[in-house]
Parts: sequence; structure tokens; C-alpha cells
Amino acid sequence: MSLQLADKKPSVPSHVAIIMDGNGRWACERGLPRLAGHRAGAEAVGRCIRAAIQRGVPYLTLYAFSSENWSRGPKEVSDLTGLLRYYLRHKVKELHTEGVCLRFIGDLSRFEPALRDELSRAEAMTRNNKRLVLLLALSYGGRGDIMQAVRRVAQEVRDGWLTPDQINEDLFTNHLWTAGVPDPDVMVRTSGEYRLSNFLLWQSAYAELVFLDVFWPDFNEGHFATVLDLYARRERRFGARPSASA
Ligand code: FPP
Repeated sequence: MSLQLADKKPSVPSHVAIIMDGNGRWACERGLPRLAGHRAGAEAVGRCIRAAIQRGVPYLTLYAFSSENWSRGPKEVSDLTGLLRYYLRHKVKELHTEGVCLRFIGDLSRFEPALRDELSRAEAMTRNNKRLVLLLALSYGGRGDIMQAVRRVAQEVRDGWLTPDQINEDLFTNHLWTAGVPDPDVMVRTSGEYRLSNFLLWQSAYAELVFLDVFWPDFNEGHFATVLDLYARRERRFGARPSASA
């Protein structure tokens, strides 16, 4: 990446990725069950999608269910998958009308077949939409993503489709669940925690990190605007030297 190119960073990021954290604490502060926090979190998802569309961000990735979330109690796992099913049944048509292309990334094989079918139908219905590509990370882990890509590349070498010297960063990127999607320019985490929690580990190599002190259910269009403002003010160098004006 040349310094000149780094200086000409577009002010709107191509891809915003968000770790939606704090649903449980939001509910706890109100003396409500955790499910109430997740429900309010699903409302915030709607506000976030609207904000991304309004601001012209072409790719948005939301961490909705991590591979580690399977180890939460069975009640919470069933609440979260129930909420996902509700969301698919009641919101996909609206997202389709809004021009949103839905894509699900993660180890979807861990979900029951009926839910997997609903995920496939939602992807098929919205496939040609261009206004916003919304990736929902479900049963997702960054290490798991890298491992499945390694396995597929190894298989292709074993089957004689590839030689080891043909393996490079671009080829590897195209074997990740996010194949075809630009790397996130900004990685956001809400709730005042400062961790990546196994989210898009390979893809976020050069992402600007933004940590917001707000629980996810309270996230709104104003917070989205703050993220874009912070991004617009950061100089991205991709490892190059600082520009003369810096
Ligand atoms: C983290 O909060 C959030 C999650 C584990 C799941 C995110 C889910 C949603 C926003 C709602 C469902 C989304 C869709 C698309 C239907 P936490 O429970 O870890 O909060 P805590 O750290 O305060 O306990």
C-alpha cells in the first residue's frame, strides 16, 4: 500500500464490523431477565442497519452468536436461537425491500436443519440486493474460520488443484467464510470491554478499533455517526511511514 493511497482514505468506511456486547448487563441493571436484553439488542440491530444504509456503508458485519456462546446455559442458547428464528421470520422481507443482501458466516452446521434451511432461504431471497451487504456472524469464531480455510486449502493441495507455492494471502482470504467481502475498516465493540473475542481475527489486521461505552441495547444512529466520525479523523498507514503533514 503506497503512502499516497493511505492518505486518500475515503471518509466513509467500506466495511464496519461490530461486536454487540452488553445485552446481559443492560437487562441486569433494569432487574430484567437476560432475554429482555437480547430482545432489546435485536431492536438495536434494526437501528444499526438503518444507520448503515443511511450513511452509505456498503458492508456491515454483526457478531450475533459466537462459537463460545454455545457454552452458555441451554436456556440462553435456546433464547438466542429463538430470537434469531423470530428475526428471520419477521424481518427478512423488510430487509429485502430495503435492498439488504443477507449473508451468514460461521459454523452453521451446529444449528438444527430447520433453522439452517431458513438461513439458506433468507440468503437466496436477498442474494441480488446491492444497497447493503449484511453479514451476520453465527456460531462464528475467528480461529474456527482460519482452521476451516486451512483444511480446505490443504484438501485442494492434496487433490492436486493447488501447489504449496500458490498459497498466498489473497488465496487464503478467499477460503475464509468472508470470501469476497473487503476487510473491515473499523471494528467496534460496545459495553466498554476492550477485546476482539475471536471475531474476524485474520480480516481485522488493519482495522481501526473503536470501543464505545454503551451497552448494545442502547446503541442508536448517533453512536453509528460517532463511529464514522472517529474513523474519518484517523489516518490509516497500513504500516507505512507517517505523512509529512502528520
Ligand atoms: C452480547 O451480550 C451479545 C450476544 C451474546 C448476542 C448478540 C445478540 C443480539 C444483539 C440479539 C439477537 C440478534 C439478532 C440478529 C436476532 P452479552 O449477553 O454477552 O452481554 P453481557 O456481556 O452484558 O452479559
